[in-house]
Amino acid sequence: MTNSPIGIFDSGIGGLSVATAMAELLPEESLLYVADNAYAPYGPRSAESILERSRKITGFLLAEGAKMIVVACNTATSIAIDALREEFPEVPFVGMEPAVKPAAKAGRVGVLATAATLGSSRYLTLRDKHLKGKEVYENACVGLVPLIEEGPAVEVALSAKLASILDPMLAEGVDAIVLGCTHYPLIKDEIQAVCGVGVNIIDPSPAAARQVERLLLQHNLFTLPSETPPGTCGPAHIFMTTGRSISLQRVLLQLANLNGKRKLVVPRVS
Ligand code: SIN
Repeated sequence: MTNSPIGIFDSGIGGLSVATAMAELLPEESLLYVADNAYAPYGPRSAESILERSRKITGFLLAEGAKMIVVACNTATSIAIDALREEFPEVPFVGMEPAVKPAAKAGRVGVLATAATLGSSRYLTLRDKHLKGKEVYENACVGLVPLIEEGPAVEVALSAKLASILDPMLAEGVDAIVLGCTHYPLIKDEIQAVCGVGVNIIDPSPAAARQVERLLLQHNLFTLPSETPPGTCGPAHIFMTTGRSISLQRVLLQLANLNGKRKLVVPRVS
């Protein structure tokens, strides 16, 4: 069991930001990633639909032998993780939290997330706890995730979209911006370029990877190199999609930490 893969899923390529942080922190662990591209983006979907997709993919990952599930999508975490924990009580789950705690030191805070995340009780509780009394500027970033999925072909549209989201926040004088969707760290450099170096862009991926590490320890699930059967290669990083594989392949090529050990075959799951 301990050398089984960690299952990860997202609506698309966004969870690769979390997978990269995990690969860096936990190089011995095998990863099995499902991008639900056929149903992306999750943001505009109904709660029932997001729950159904999350259940289905979790069931698939567990049937494939995953020892833990990382819900590498803020929207799916907000909507589905409590139900998943109830349904699969023996499985350790890690979800995404909008990283509002590290923003507590900032004066004015911008939060980028989907409407589903911004309206969730999970986010509202965290905001009340860590940002009470602060000026908080939220944007549901409608249409941003599909542009990130499309990549360089829509660079001009992406720049215009970022300006429309960030310029009003910058005009209000925000000095920290929370990336509340796992797709956004994939364009962190572009966001930083619009905001300038004086604005702290907060990426929750490293914290999520540390939480995975804590749970592996707590459940005694670390992969032990001695358990790898002789003659077999080390950890594998396997990526699957329910839809088009083009965006997944493109981002995988850019992510250095996942190079070398990744499986290039991108089988489809339904
Ligand atoms: C989306 O699929 O709309 C966004 C995913 C996320 O919230 O991380």
